[in-house]
Amino acid sequence: MHFGVDLGTTNSLIAVFRDGTPQLIPNALGQVLTPSVVALHQGRLVVGEAARAISLSQPAQAAGLFKRAMGTDRAYRLGQTDYNAPELSAMVLAALKADAEAHCGVPVSDVVISVPAYFNELQRKAVRAAGRIAGLNVTRLINEPTAAALAYGLHERDAEAKILVFDLGGGTFDVSVLDLFEGVIEVRASAGDAFLGGEDFTDALARYIATQSGLDANDPALRPALIKLAEQAKVGLSSDAQIHLQAELGGTPIDLHLTRERFDDITAPLLTRLAAPLDRALHDSGFTAQQIDKVVLVGGATRMAAVRAYAGRKLRQFPVIGLDPDQVVALGAAVQAALVARDAALDDVVMTDVSAFTLGCDTARQIGNTYREGYFQPIIERNSIIPTSREEMFSTIQLGQEVLRFRIFQGESPLAMNNLALGEIEVKVPRNMEHHESAIVRFTYDVSGLLEVDVTVQSTGKKASLVISKLAGEMSEADITAALKKMAALKQHPRDDAANIHLRTRIEAAYGMARAEARDWVANLLVQLDAAIDAQDPHTLTALRRDLHKALDEFEAHYVT
Ligand SMILES: Nc1ncnc2c1ncn2[C@@H]1O[C@H](COP(=O)(O)OP(=O)(O)OP(=O)(O)O)[C@@H](O)[C@H]1O
Ligand SMILES: [Mg+2]
Repeated sequence: MHFGVDLGTTNSLIAVFRDGTPQLIPNALGQVLTPSVVALHQGRLVVGEAARAISLSQPAQAAGLFKRAMGTDRAYRLGQTDYNAPELSAMVLAALKADAEAHCGVPVSDVVISVPAYFNELQRKAVRAAGRIAGLNVTRLINEPTAAALAYGLHERDAEAKILVFDLGGGTFDVSVLDLFEGVIEVRASAGDAFLGGEDFTDALARYIATQSGLDANDPALRPALIKLAEQAKVGLSSDAQIHLQAELGGTPIDLHLTRERFDDITAPLLTRLAAPLDRALHDSGFTAQQIDKVVLVGGATRMAAVRAYAGRKLRQFPVIGLDPDQVVALGAAVQAALVARDAALDDVVMTDVSAFTLGCDTARQIGNTYREGYFQPIIERNSIIPTSREEMFSTIQLGQEVLRFRIFQGESPLAMNNLALGEIEVKVPRNMEHHESAIVRFTYDVSGLLEVDVTVQSTGKKASLVISKLAGEMSEADITAALKKMAALKQHPRDDAANIHLRTRIEAAYGMARAEARDWVANLLVQLDAAIDAQDPHTLTALRRDLHKALDEFEAHYVT
């Protein structure tokens, strides 16, 4: 059995590859999508749907959307303790691991985790760290659109086609162009925007709703309910051309008619940001829009009518949704796990991927008879097939110079400082007053899109010990050890409690929204739940939970009609 994880901005999934095919694994609530939200409930950790419910009623007790802070040192406060994004991601991963172990009856250690193709070195390292903190051995990182293509390609094993994967998730946008032939899946190019996703559309709509209703969109007390309302409205507009919003937020009544056209106007600036990555991926792939045989939509946010229409217009064809857009990345990650483990069922499948960024270092260039520093010297160009290894020779600028120092960058700007600094490496060279000393810098990009650098001095053959300096947001060995301790100290709710906590939180939130006689009705739901928990009959409890959720769905539904 091989396991693959889609660690998403809004939802995460785990899938297993067995009997020659990938399958999704349900969580303790029986769902395959686990919201990427963690929360404290009575001082104990909960993850997923229950945590999402808590984030609405007690935002200070919950954290979400932390994938956006991967590779930064942003801290999220949960109760009395600060956690960084890898630590919070590790909590989600640990929950998925527990679900997989409960479902498959085996310990889960080796996993492949998907990352946005446009995730940089620091963000990738943060995902690796999260895996370790969760007690997992991350055998490989796979780019999300590549995972989607893998699931898709396996599904249509005999297809020969040029495919464009258009992946708009909750927080990230990725485009990959692939060539499928005779069991070979070749990624030709990837591009994207690591800060563009469905949540930005929700946010834009939330601001509009707030402005129209005379509310402050940034008011932390209103924000969770406002975002929830905007999310409901956004999803509603994916199936209906217009909706009617009726709600009360912090005592202010909201009564708005919203049409798709209005929504499209509000979100137009976001739509235009889809163009650049599409153009770049197409350009780098060497194909024209006309040559693309299929456009595959991935990610929940591609359910928006405007996004589909945009993809269709731009690529001059109707996009297809082959497999479930929410699930396809996790399925592909499991396929990749099977490929890494050389599962016999995949003997005839070959896949190659590319790096989405250019990697290089800073250099000085001669201008007249002086040298000016700060120019970017690419070593591995973007969209090179990975793994790959390239080298470049650099020389001292001055005679007698004793140290060669290289700063390593990732990005597409000719000026080093406009690219992302990944670290530095330094090497001592002999003091030479007659000739310039030189060194070979070798960059190796591995299959997970992670970089290794080494430097060899030509005259002495001496290699530089790899001292890529620690950057803000990067976790050292010591940080990871500390995080493991922190996690061990965190009390967990038993997996079986998740369903009850989720329902209880929903009831409590509904109580907060309701008034007068509706309040009594809601309070009574809580009494029913407590009675069923005390009675300890699992069948009655399961049936009751289902009924109560349904009742709450109906209760919430008249907020958006
Ligand atoms: N019916 C719908 N209409 C509009 N948007 C939707 C719909 N269903 C889901 N979404 C949006 O899709 C997004 C979540 O998609 P998905 O689960 O693919 O993202 P993710 O994998 O968590 O994020 P990422 O891949 O960016 O890390 C959310 O912003 C959600 O609001
Ligand atoms: Mg995703």
